[in-house]
Amino acid sequence: MAHRGNFGSKLGVVLAAAGSAVGLGNVWRFPTEVGNNGGAAFILIYLACVFFIGIPVMVSEFVIGRSTHANTITVFRKLAPHTWWRIGGIEGVFVAFFIFCYYIIVSGWTLHYTVASFANQLSADKDYKAYFQHFVSSPWEPVVYAVVFMLMVHIIIVRGVQNGIEKFSKLMMPMLLLIIGVLVVCSFSMSGFTEGVTFLLRPDFSKVTPSIVLSAVGQAFYSLSLAMGCLCTYASYFGPNTNLMKTAMSVSLIDTCVAVLCGFIIFPAVFSVPGVEANEGPGLVFITLPHVFNIAFHNVPIIGYLFSGLFYVLLLLSALTSAMSLHEPVTAYIHEEWHLSRKLAAWLVTVGCILLGVACSLSMGVWNGYQIGGMCLFDLFDFVSAKIILPLGGIIICLFVGWKLDRQLVYDEVTNNGTLRIRFFRLYLFLVRWVAPLAIAVIFYNELFNK
Ligand code: TRP
Repeated sequence: MAHRGNFGSKLGVVLAAAGSAVGLGNVWRFPTEVGNNGGAAFILIYLACVFFIGIPVMVSEFVIGRSTHANTITVFRKLAPHTWWRIGGIEGVFVAFFIFCYYIIVSGWTLHYTVASFANQLSADKDYKAYFQHFVSSPWEPVVYAVVFMLMVHIIIVRGVQNGIEKFSKLMMPMLLLIIGVLVVCSFSMSGFTEGVTFLLRPDFSKVTPSIVLSAVGQAFYSLSLAMGCLCTYASYFGPNTNLMKTAMSVSLIDTCVAVLCGFIIFPAVFSVPGVEANEGPGLVFITLPHVFNIAFHNVPIIGYLFSGLFYVLLLLSALTSAMSLHEPVTAYIHEEWHLSRKLAAWLVTVGCILLGVACSLSMGVWNGYQIGGMCLFDLFDFVSAKIILPLGGIIICLFVGWKLDRQLVYDEVTNNGTLRIRFFRLYLFLVRWVAPLAIAVIFYNELFNK
C-alpha cells in the first residue's frame, strides 16, 4: 500500500478533529435547532446526547481507524473479513460524499455572504428574504461560489495530511476561536442580550417530545462529525501515542462550547430586533441575521459592518475545516483502493462533487417551493442524513466495536497497549454496548411509530 500520511503533533490531531467537528452544524444548524425546539431544554438534552452517545461513538471510530490505519471501507474489511459489517464502511464513505455535495452549496452561500458583507452590500435595510431567495435560486451564482470554495478545499487536500489538513487546521482554528471571542464580547452590548441569554439558559421542559430528543441525537452526530467515516479516517493518521479518550473529550468539549457560544452570539442579536422570532429555521443565518445586524447596530454602522463581516468569516472558516474532513474519507478510499495517485483521487472527488452539487443547487432554483413530505428538498436531505442515516450508522459502529471486535483489541487501543491508565474504560464499554445503541434505537422507534 502507498505510504500513508500521519499527523505530526498532538495539537494538530485535536485541532484537525475539532476542525472537522466545528462547522456549519455549530454556527448554522445548532441555533436553528435550538430556536425551533424551545431553547435551553433542547441544549440540556443535547449535552446528555454528546456525553452518553456522542463521545462513546467518537472513541469507537478512533479505535477502528487507528487500529487498522486504513480508509473506512477497508477498516471494516480488515477487522471483519467477508461479513455484512462492511456495510458500515460503505455507508460511511457514500454518505460522506452525498452530504459533501450539499455541504459545499451552503458553504458557497457563506462565501458569497462573506464577500457581500465586506463589499458593503449587506448594510442597507433591504428585503433579505428576497435577496437570499434570489441568490439561492439563481442558476449560476451559487454554483460559482461553491466551485471556488471546493477548489480551496481541493488545494488543501492534495497537500496531504501533515502539510494540508494539519497545517491549515492549526492556522484556521485559532482564528476561528478568536473571532468567536470577539463576537461574544460584542454581543454583551446588545439590547437583547438578557432576553437572548434567558432563552438559552432557562429550560422549558413542557416542550420536550420524542421528536425533540431525536433532533438532539441527530444534531450531536452531525455536529461531532460522527458515523460517516470522517473521524475514523482522521484516526487512521493518528500516531501510536495519541490518547484516544482524551482526544475525543477535547474535541467534543471544543465543539459543544463553540455551538453554545454561537448561540450567545446569535440570540442576543435576534432578540434585539422587535418582531424577529428565534424560530426562523434555516434562513436564520442568511435572512434574519443580515437584517438584525443592520438594525441592532443602527447607530454605529461601522460596528455592524465589522460584526457581520467577522461573523461570515467565522462561518466560512468553520465550513472549510469541516469540508476538508468530508473530502478526505472519499479521497483516501479512492487513492488506496483504486490504486490511483492521491492527486487524481482528489480530483475525482472534487469534480464528482461539483457535478452533483450543481444539480442540487439548480434543483433548489427550479423546484423552490415544492414540498416532499412537508419538507422542501433541502430540508428533506438534511432530515434523511442527520435523523436517519447518521443515527443508524452510529448504531452499526457501537454494535461493531462493542460486540464484534475483540475486547482486548479495544482495550489495547484505548490504553495505547496498556501504557495509559484509563479510568473510564468499563463505563465506555458499557455505554457503547448498551446505552448508546439502545438509546438511539428507542428514540428512533418512538419517532417513527409513536406519532
Ligand atoms: N460536523 C460538521 C459540522 O458541524 C459537519 C460534518 C463534517 C459532518 N463531517 C461530518 C457531519 C461527518 C456528519 C458526519 O458542520
